[in-house]
Amino acid sequence: MSFKVKKAVFPVAGLGTRFLPATKTVPKEMLPVVDKPLIQYAVDEAIEAGIDTLVFVTNRYKHSVADYFDKAYELEQKLEKAGKSELLAMIRDVLPRHVRCVFVTQAEALGLGHAVLCARPVIGDEPFAVLLPDDLIWSRGRGALGQMVDLAERTASSVISVQTVPNEQTSSYGIVSAPTFTGRYGAIEQIVEKPKPEVAPSNLAVVGRYVLSGAIFPILEKTRSGAGGEIQLTDAIAELLRNDPVLAYQFEGRRFDCGTRIGLIEATIQYALDHEDLADEARAYMQAALAEK
Ligand code: G1P
Repeated sequence: MSFKVKKAVFPVAGLGTRFLPATKTVPKEMLPVVDKPLIQYAVDEAIEAGIDTLVFVTNRYKHSVADYFDKAYELEQKLEKAGKSELLAMIRDVLPRHVRCVFVTQAEALGLGHAVLCARPVIGDEPFAVLLPDDLIWSRGRGALGQMVDLAERTASSVISVQTVPNEQTSSYGIVSAPTFTGRYGAIEQIVEKPKPEVAPSNLAVVGRYVLSGAIFPILEKTRSGAGGEIQLTDAIAELLRNDPVLAYQFEGRRFDCGTRIGLIEATIQYALDHEDLADEARAYMQAALAEK
C-alpha cells in the first residue's frame, strides 16, 4: 500500500484562555513569535514536509486565520505602487502557489478527536498529518513533520511525535509506552490521555505532530468522550494501534509549548537569538537586563 502524506489538518478552534485578555480578539494561533504568527510556523513546517493541502478546522471567531492566508489586494497594491518589493514578497510568500487551503468549521468544541474528524470530508481515507500550532518546534535541519513523514512513508505506519517530560507533568499530555526503540523510533504499545504520574505507563509525552492513517476516521466516528469530557484523538489512536502499526518518534529539534505564556516567551527569545537582523541587539538587551536584576 502506498503511504503518501499530502494533506495536513490544523485544529485552530481552541479558546486560548491562557492568553486573555489578548485572545479576546486575537486567536492564539495569530500571536506572533518575532514577526510571524504561530500558525505560519506550523504551516511552513508542513509545506517543507511536502504537504500541499492545508485543512484548517476553525470556528466563527477565527476569521483572522482565513484572512491571513487570503490575498490582501489593497495592501499589495499599495506596496506595489510604493515600490516596496521586499515587503510585497513577504506578504505574498505567506503561501507558495502550489499550496491550497481548505477551511472547515467545528461548530462545537468537543475535543481534538472531534476537530480532526471534522476534516474527514477533505482528507478522505488517505494518510494525513495533524499539527497543533501551539507546539512550536524549532530545528536546524529538516523540520519535525518532515522527519516524521519520511519515517511514515518508509514504514507505511502512523507516526506520533514524542518527547520525555518530567514525571509530574504526565497529566498534561498524551503518554505512550514504546518499550523498544530503534534509534529515534519504536512501536507504541499503549497510549493514554493525561494520566496521573502514579498510573502513567512512562514519561514519553505526545507532542502536537501526528501522521495518521485514514483508518483513524471510522474509529473517531465511534470514539466517545474521554479525559476532560472531550472526544480525544489519543483514545482513537489507542484503538488504531490494535490493528495498525503506530510508531512513537523522538524528533530532532526543540519544542516550545506556546500554549503557555512562558513557552511563548522562550520561543520568542530563541527565534530572536536566531534571527539574522535581531540576534546581536536581542543578546545585548538580554545581557543588560539580566545584569540589572
Ligand atoms: C493535546 C493532546 C495531548 C498532547 C498535547 C500536545 O492536548 O490531547 O495528547 O500531548 O496536545 O501538546 P492539549 O494540550 O490540547 O490539552
